[in-house]
Amino acid sequence: MKKTIRDFDLLNKKVLIRCDFNVPIKEGKIIDDNRIVCSLPTIKYAIENGAKVILFSHLGRVKTEEDLQKNDLRPVAKRLQELLNKDVVFVPVTRGMELEEAIAKMQSSDVLLVQNTRYEDLDGKKESGNDPELSKYWASFGDIFINDAFGTAHRAHASNVGIASHLPSGVGFLMEKELKELSLLDNPEHPFVVILGGSKVEDKIGVIKNLVNVADKILIGGGMCFTFLKAKGINVGKSIVDTENLEFTKDILANYSVKIVLPVDVKTALEYSNDSSSRVTDIENISDNEMGLDIGPKTIAEFSSILDSAKVIFWNGPLGVYEFSNYIDGTKKILEKVSLIDAKTILGGGDIVAASSEFGYKEKVTHASTGGGATLEYIEGKELPGIAIINDLN
Ligand code: 3PG
Repeated sequence: MKKTIRDFDLLNKKVLIRCDFNVPIKEGKIIDDNRIVCSLPTIKYAIENGAKVILFSHLGRVKTEEDLQKNDLRPVAKRLQELLNKDVVFVPVTRGMELEEAIAKMQSSDVLLVQNTRYEDLDGKKESGNDPELSKYWASFGDIFINDAFGTAHRAHASNVGIASHLPSGVGFLMEKELKELSLLDNPEHPFVVILGGSKVEDKIGVIKNLVNVADKILIGGGMCFTFLKAKGINVGKSIVDTENLEFTKDILANYSVKIVLPVDVKTALEYSNDSSSRVTDIENISDNEMGLDIGPKTIAEFSSILDSAKVIFWNGPLGVYEFSNYIDGTKKILEKVSLIDAKTILGGGDIVAASSEFGYKEKVTHASTGGGATLEYIEGKELPGIAIINDLN
């Protein structure tokens, strides 16, 4: 068991909280603030208990000068201020006098957000490389470190693992909740059904390898189903195929043909566009000039009937291009299905959680994880360094 924020006296202490505010931002506007909202319980608790609250987060990936402006955390500070209904001091740098003075001025219950930790990646990957000097420098700002960034727990960076190695540490409420809910999958009740979508097989190899021994069925849709269909010798036309992983899919199909359930029909388009000419076809009849953008009605019915008896469901990745209104059915109808059956459902990964929120099903599932890669690595059975480093409860 890890220490939690509840195990510390926070009054007048400088509490460094690592959040995952890596949210989608377009033209300065936050498209989905779910991760910020999910971080509020820990931040509010620290405020209510009189801490000086110093927040760290990354945003996107910073490789070039142009990435700096695109990944400025200022919009997050603004949104956080609205959600907390309280001033949030935003410091637009990650080191130096401006930051040090702002921290020195803090009073009990003040909140400060440091600029995107990955600004430190521009000059020698100091954040992502867990640079010892940077970790020590950031840790010197605080008395206690709380890691609430579940979405980043699979990274060993300066702002999570680095700082934690210098300070007394615990997890926040979001991290605690994620670990509790995801532990449902450690020893799941059966039938345990896994739904996988999204475009790349590559991202799911670890999960498939691990879950194929545990799950009763793995239902595959989204762009990744076409690699499996091609591996079976089916003509998938212009559909997306992850050629590098064709051999992997062939092996999996050869060994687990009954467990892996693939679409029997798909909705196709001639171009990757919502407006391109479209039709539903059985998978055997996909033409050379077509690409599949969603699963078809027969597949939705088949997936639904398998889900009827499920006791536990883990779902990662949308089943079609749900951003296009003509290709939402697979994802939306299966979300509706899982919301109606008597099963514990865990949604893992950004896109399926965003889709569940858009279609109104997010509150109707057992748990919508804030992790993408972190959730997958947890399910693969890997140790997450951002959690492993946190002090144990003695
Ligand atoms: C995520 O969105 O999965 C996390 O914030 C981690 O981001 P990263 O993949 O850029 O490290």
